[in-house]
Amino acid sequence: MPPDEPLGLQRGLTHYGDADFSLYLRRSFARQSGLSSEMLKRPVVGIAQSTSGFNPCHRSTPELVEAIKRGVLAAGGLPLDFPTISLGESFLNPTSMKFRNLMAMDVEEMLRAQPMDAVVLVGGCDKTVPAQLMGAASADVPAIQLVVGPMLPMPWRGERLGACTDCRRFWARFRAGEVSAAEIEAVEGQLAVTAGTCSVMGTASTMAAIAEALGLSLPGTAAIPAVHADRIRAAEASGRRAVEMALSPDPVRPSRLITPQSVENALRVLLAIGGSTNALIHLTAIAGRRGIEIPLERLNALSDTTPVLVDLKPTGQHYMADLHAAGGLGAVLRELKPLLHLDCPTVAGQTLGERLAAEPDWVDRGVVHAFADPIRAQGGLVALFGSLAPRGAILKRSAADPQLFERTGRAVVFSSLEDLAARIDDPALDVTPDDFLVLQNAGPTSAAAMPEAGYLPIPQKLARAGVKDMVRISDARMSGTAYGTIVLHVAPESAVGGPLGLVRNGDRIRLSVAGRRIDLLVDEAELAARRAAQPPAPPPPARGYARLYQQSMLQADAGCDFDFLRPPAQP
Ligand code: FES
Ligand code: MG
Repeated sequence: MPPDEPLGLQRGLTHYGDADFSLYLRRSFARQSGLSSEMLKRPVVGIAQSTSGFNPCHRSTPELVEAIKRGVLAAGGLPLDFPTISLGESFLNPTSMKFRNLMAMDVEEMLRAQPMDAVVLVGGCDKTVPAQLMGAASADVPAIQLVVGPMLPMPWRGERLGACTDCRRFWARFRAGEVSAAEIEAVEGQLAVTAGTCSVMGTASTMAAIAEALGLSLPGTAAIPAVHADRIRAAEASGRRAVEMALSPDPVRPSRLITPQSVENALRVLLAIGGSTNALIHLTAIAGRRGIEIPLERLNALSDTTPVLVDLKPTGQHYMADLHAAGGLGAVLRELKPLLHLDCPTVAGQTLGERLAAEPDWVDRGVVHAFADPIRAQGGLVALFGSLAPRGAILKRSAADPQLFERTGRAVVFSSLEDLAARIDDPALDVTPDDFLVLQNAGPTSAAAMPEAGYLPIPQKLARAGVKDMVRISDARMSGTAYGTIVLHVAPESAVGGPLGLVRNGDRIRLSVAGRRIDLLVDEAELAARRAAQPPAPPPPARGYARLYQQSMLQADAGCDFDFLRPPAQP
């Protein structure tokens, strides 16, 4: 956007080759909304909203949009909300991941095409915040991310339930025969009971924390519960602040906020909160929109020097509402201060360091541990490399069983999701607790579009015998609310010829978390023979988004963005 661009509805008046006529026409249609001519002179704050009947996590967005509008009007701006597509995590086929880039394109193009001076992005459910931040990073319109906030957990029979770690816990117990059909049905009605996003440190919560760590959300807003009045006040404040940004001659645009330093801060936060593996893909995609790479070797270096401080499910005990009560993300950032780049700007107009100096330093140590007394000395995520994953794989070590970290196992291979579903519970399946379960063809360009299937179920006969964890390896993703010794995001994926696709039943695979290795112990001649015998890849989809997706998809180590959406490499 050129700096001398006029404000508000006068932006981008090129439609008819006659700027005066274009403005005249635009104003007359704006008046159709019942707006006074005074209003039409104000700076415009767009509100990108993603309300949808298919997205119950976003059911509070109308109330938030109203509060943003109130803030914008009070500060002298004109709020104009507009819809984008919405991605409700559990309703999309084959997976929400397939549509993250579509939503990012929708957001980017509407920010650019419509006359707005700043925007408030309202999202929350897993893929919506990444899509909004990717779009805003590319359009580079001054932007504030407002998340809808987490659900409250529900007290139930002496414990608390929250989506969706407890969904998995109860389902695993049901599969193991420990929970009755009546009880699992009763629990179903109590797992997600308020508006808002999953109540644990899943992908949505992790992305909310990352948005705040990048400086793109107002300070202290990531963890406010969706139904708390503070959430509405955060919306009003976001609207007010967006007007200030709109009027600033030099606003803090996403290009000034998303820098190598702020991305490193966000990675530190991701590691310290025991965040979702998915968030690594999303942060890589967001940073990639500004030409910033996240080498997995750098992730390992940061992981080894960043303690886990936050005691939230799925790796710990508490819920997001507890993190808010414990001091919110600010409490985490203050502990991490020695590791952070404090001169990074934020949408609030202060630097990160100024923000932290101005905040009260109360904290509940039951939820946010001190830097000197961490839950774990090292970060939650680790990248593995080796002959099975030449471009890397991810293990959430904080959610895994360390007893499984150094071992060699026999591969039990499933060639697709369908194959997995057909055979995993077969009583005749040749499998022991020491085997490694391998799932192929569930990566980004596969027909399955990288589902959260990396959390392969423990074969039923082993689950019934009390086996809780096994090494599981795939090119798929895992829900941020899941746990286990699960090697994910293997790159390159099987569908593009990666070695994962060459694994056969009975092969030996060596995992060494200490050595950061995952190796397929099969000699190169045998692998070459298997490669030569592979069936040819199926033809690409004939038309539409599926075709664009298949032809443009990058691997997990590039954030699963489309190749043409990243800026051209600098010469
Ligand atoms: Fe929407 Fe979990 S399903 S955040
Ligand atoms: Mg999720």
